[in-house]
Amino acid sequence: MTESSQHDLFASLIDDLANQGWSQRALFAPEVLTRELAAECRKRAHSGALNAASVGRGGAQQVQEGIRGDRIQWLEPGQSAACDQYLQHMDDLRQALNRTLYLGLEDYECHFACYAPGAFYQRHLDRFRDDDRRTVSAVFYLNDDWQPEQGGALRLYLADGREHDVLPRAGTLALFLSADMPHEVLPATRERLSLTGWFRRRGEGPF
Ligand code: OGA
Ligand code: MN
Repeated sequence: MTESSQHDLFASLIDDLANQGWSQRALFAPEVLTRELAAECRKRAHSGALNAASVGRGGAQQVQEGIRGDRIQWLEPGQSAACDQYLQHMDDLRQALNRTLYLGLEDYECHFACYAPGAFYQRHLDRFRDDDRRTVSAVFYLNDDWQPEQGGALRLYLADGREHDVLPRAGTLALFLSADMPHEVLPATRERLSLTGWFRRRGEGPF
């Protein structure tokens, strides 16, 4: 991706985010990188490296498949060239968000996620009651040839009462404000892979 195409892509995402609280773009990363990340997510999922995701925080964390049925693994720098390239891309986006919207975003955390067929995540907000650092949610999808009838959409509940569905197609990024956008993951008829993350601002509490 050239610097100027990255600049235009980020500018349009940030514009949407400022105007409507969410955005969606295809081809968010170079196709080679998307393919490498998909292969890595698949490998991690099928080697048993992903763990059942929990809901709640701290001592209240629990696996509850009736609320959330995905399996996840957090990304750390230095695990692979593809992951590092993705983290760099997201850090560039973080800096662009700060320059344009003055959000004071300090870092970015993300995990691979795999939803087995039938798994879902009920309607929720991404910001925790006791930790308000998560400010912008970013979900990058890794699934080739996704068809609408396969389900698995990310459903956003917009402020005006409408709903917007994002299909989890390889290369698509969904971006939305963590505190204000209720959303859910609908069950799918096939495995659904993604990289889900959050831009966080500085915390005030003893986290
Ligand atoms: C989440 C989430 C959305 C998606 O992990 O909090 O809402 O489309 N994921 O995977
Ligand atoms: Mn969420």
